[in-house]
Amino acid sequence: MMRPVLLLLAALAGLLATPASAAPKTKATPAPTLALIERGKLVFTRNCAPCHGQGPGDDGSPRLPGTARLEARYNGSLPGALELRSDLTADVLRYFIRNGSGPMPMFRKTEVSDQDILAIEVYLQQSAAKTRK
Ligand code: HEC
Repeated sequence: MMRPVLLLLAALAGLLATPASAAPKTKATPAPTLALIERGKLVFTRNCAPCHGQGPGDDGSPRLPGTARLEARYNGSLPGALELRSDLTADVLRYFIRNGSGPMPMFRKTEVSDQDILAIEVYLQQSAAKTRK
C-alpha cells in the first residue's frame, strides 16, 4: 500500500531536484598554488593596477582613479585598493570585469579569461591576507 506513494514521492523529488542540479555551478575557489597567485598578480598588474593600484597617479593625483573612487564610496568601511580586500569572489570580479562599471571598461574573454579571473581572486585573497599580518 505504501509503496506506490513512496515511489511517487521519490519521482517528484527527482523532478524537483533536476533543475537545481542542471543549473550552472559556480566554480569553487581553486587552491592557491604559487603558479595561480603569480598568474593573478601578472593579470592584475597588467589590466587592473593602472586604475586600482595603491600608488599615486602619474599625473600627480594622490590616488589612481579606481582606488580613489572606491575609497570615496566606502568611506573607511572597506579599503579603496582591491589588493587589500578579501571579500571579492570570482563571481563579483567576473561581473565587473565582463560588464565594466562607470569609467571601468569591460574586458573580453580574449583579454582576461575566466581562468584569469579565478587567478585574480586567488591573488587578491593572498595579497589581502598578507597585509593583515
Ligand atoms: C580605467 C580604469 C579601470 C581599470 C583598467 C579597471 N578598473 Fe575596476 N573600477 C574602476 C572604477 C573607476 C571603478 C568604480 C566604478 C564605479 O564607480 O561604478 C571600478 C570598480 C571595480 C570593482 C567594483 C568594486 C566595488 O566594491 O564596487 C571591481 C571588483 C573592479 N573594478 C575590478 C577590476 C579588475 C579586476 C580590473 C582588471 C581586470 C579592473 N577593475 C580594471 C576603474 C578601473
